[in-house]
Amino acid sequence: MEQLNLFDIPVNADKWQVQNFSADNFGEQSVRMSLERKLINITVVSDMFNRQNVSYQLSKNDTLHRWLKYKEGFSADLVKRLLKEFNIKQGDTVLDPFVGSGTTSLVCKMQGINSIGFDILPMSKIAIKAKQSVLEYDLIEIKRVISEIKNLEIPENYNSRTPHITITDGAYSENTEKEIAFFTEWNNDNECSEITKNLVTLCILNSLEKISYTAKDGQFLRWDYRSKKMLESAEHRKKNGKSPLVIRLDKGDLPALKQSLLDELNSVSIDISFIQKSATSNTGKLNFIEGSALYELPKLESNLLNAVITSPPYCNRYDYTRTYALELAYLGITDEKIKKLRQELLSCTVENRPKIDYIKEKYIALCKEKDFNQIMKIVENNQTLAEINHSLNERSKNGDINNRGVLRMVNGYFQELTFIYAELFRLCKSGAKVAFVNDNVRYGGEVISVDFISTELAEKIGFKPVKVYSLKQQKGNSSQQMAKFGRVPLRKSITVWEKP
Ligand SMILES: C[S@@+](CC[C@H](N)C(=O)[O-])C[C@H]1O[C@@H](n2cnc3c(N)ncnc32)[C@H](O)[C@@H]1O
Repeated sequence: MEQLNLFDIPVNADKWQVQNFSADNFGEQSVRMSLERKLINITVVSDMFNRQNVSYQLSKNDTLHRWLKYKEGFSADLVKRLLKEFNIKQGDTVLDPFVGSGTTSLVCKMQGINSIGFDILPMSKIAIKAKQSVLEYDLIEIKRVISEIKNLEIPENYNSRTPHITITDGAYSENTEKEIAFFTEWNNDNECSEITKNLVTLCILNSLEKISYTAKDGQFLRWDYRSKKMLESAEHRKKNGKSPLVIRLDKGDLPALKQSLLDELNSVSIDISFIQKSATSNTGKLNFIEGSALYELPKLESNLLNAVITSPPYCNRYDYTRTYALELAYLGITDEKIKKLRQELLSCTVENRPKIDYIKEKYIALCKEKDFNQIMKIVENNQTLAEINHSLNERSKNGDINNRGVLRMVNGYFQELTFIYAELFRLCKSGAKVAFVNDNVRYGGEVISVDFISTELAEKIGFKPVKVYSLKQQKGNSSQQMAKFGRVPLRKSITVWEKP
C-alpha cells in the first residue's frame, strides 16, 4: 500500500465498511464480506476528493469546462489532482474511454499532455471540437456572428421546424420549433470558419433544455404543465374523473432561442479571450474518436498510456439517451438510431440487452479470440459476481426487484467493464496508473460494492490495487429501498490501480 498523504484520513471501518450486504440476511453474502474486509485496508477517506470535485458542480463556473452543461461530468480540479498524484508530465499520454464533456482530455491538452478519448454520444464530439479549438478562434469573427444574430428576424412566412423523435414530441412551443430550425439553417449557410459554426452549434445545444418545456431529471425528462404531453394527460385525467396531478413542473418564462444563444456565445467569448491571453501555446495532442470504448480500445496499440482518468456510466439505470433526447434529436438522431445508441451504452439501463456475442465477433474480427476467452474466464470465475447474480436472482423470485432488466444490467455492466479493464491493462505502460470514479449501488436490498468488485477484477487482470479513495459524503438509497430495507450508506469512490 502507498503512503497516505496529508489529506488522507484512515478509514473509519464502521462508517465506510459495509456491515451487511443482504438486507434482513436474506441471501448469501460471505464472498462480498471477505472482499470488503480485504479492500477496506487500502481505502482512505480523503479531503482531496469531495462531492464538488467529483461532480459537475465546480465546472459550472470553470472557464472552458462550463461550455457543455454536462451534469454527469467530473471537475477539472479532480483531473488536475490525479495528474499531479500520478506524476504525469508534458508529452505523456492519458486515456479517458468515457469522455462525456471531455474534462480529462481538455485538462490534459491545456497542460501539454497528449490524450485519447472515446464516447458514443454525438454531443461529445461537438463539445470536444469546440473546446480543443479554443486557441484558434478568431474573436473578431465571433463578434461579427454575435452582432448578425442580434439583427436576425424570422420571416413571417418561415415554415421549417426542428426535427423530433417520439420522446421529444411537444418539447417546444411552435414558435421555438421554428426558431431552432431558422437559426440552425442560418448557421449552416453562414460564411464563417468551421470551428465558429461548430461553436454556434454547441451554444444551440446548450440552449435546448432552457427554451423547452422539459427539465433533465435523473433517468428521464420532466415536463412543464404547459407542454402538449401534460395538457393531454390533464385532459385525460379529467375525463376519467381523476383529480389533477399535484406535482407539476413550472419553468416560468422561457427565454427565446435568440437570447439564450447570445448569452451562450457571449459567455464562451469571455473564456476564449481569457484563455487566448493566458494559455501557453504548448498544448497536448487530443485524439477523440466517436465510438464505443468496448470496440475501439481493442484496436489500439499496446503500451501506449501513462495514465487513465475516467468515470464510466454508473450501474444506476441512468439512461443518457433519454436525458439527452432533445440534444440527440436536434443532431438528427432518429427514433431508430436512438434505440441503437442506447444498446451501445455500457450496460447501465434496464433496457440494455447482452452484447457479449457482439463483443466476441469484434474480437474474432481482430484475431483476438484468445484474449476474448481469457477475459471471459476472469468474469466467469469471479465468485463475488457469482454471489451477486445469485442473490439478485433470488430477490427477483421473492418479488424484491420489480424489473428483471436490473439483473441483466448488473451482469452486463461488470462483464463489459472487465473487457475495458483488460484492454486498459494491455494499453498501459509499466508503472501507469488508472483512476476510475464510480458509485456503489443497491438493488432489492443487495449492496453491490462497485469500487471493490472492480478492483478485484482489475487485480485478476494483472493490475496492482493502490488505493480506494472514498468520499466523506456517502450516497443515500432510493426511497423505495429505504422504505423496504432500511438505509445503508453507499460509497462514492475513486479506485486507483497500477500496472506493475
Ligand atoms: C460519467 S460520464 C463521463 C463524464 C466525463 N468524465 C466528463 O467529465 O464529462 C460517462 C460517459 O460514458 C459514455 N459512454 C457510455 N457507454 C459508452 C461506451 N460504450 N463507449 C464510450 N463511451 C460510453 C456516456 O455517453 C457518458 O458520456
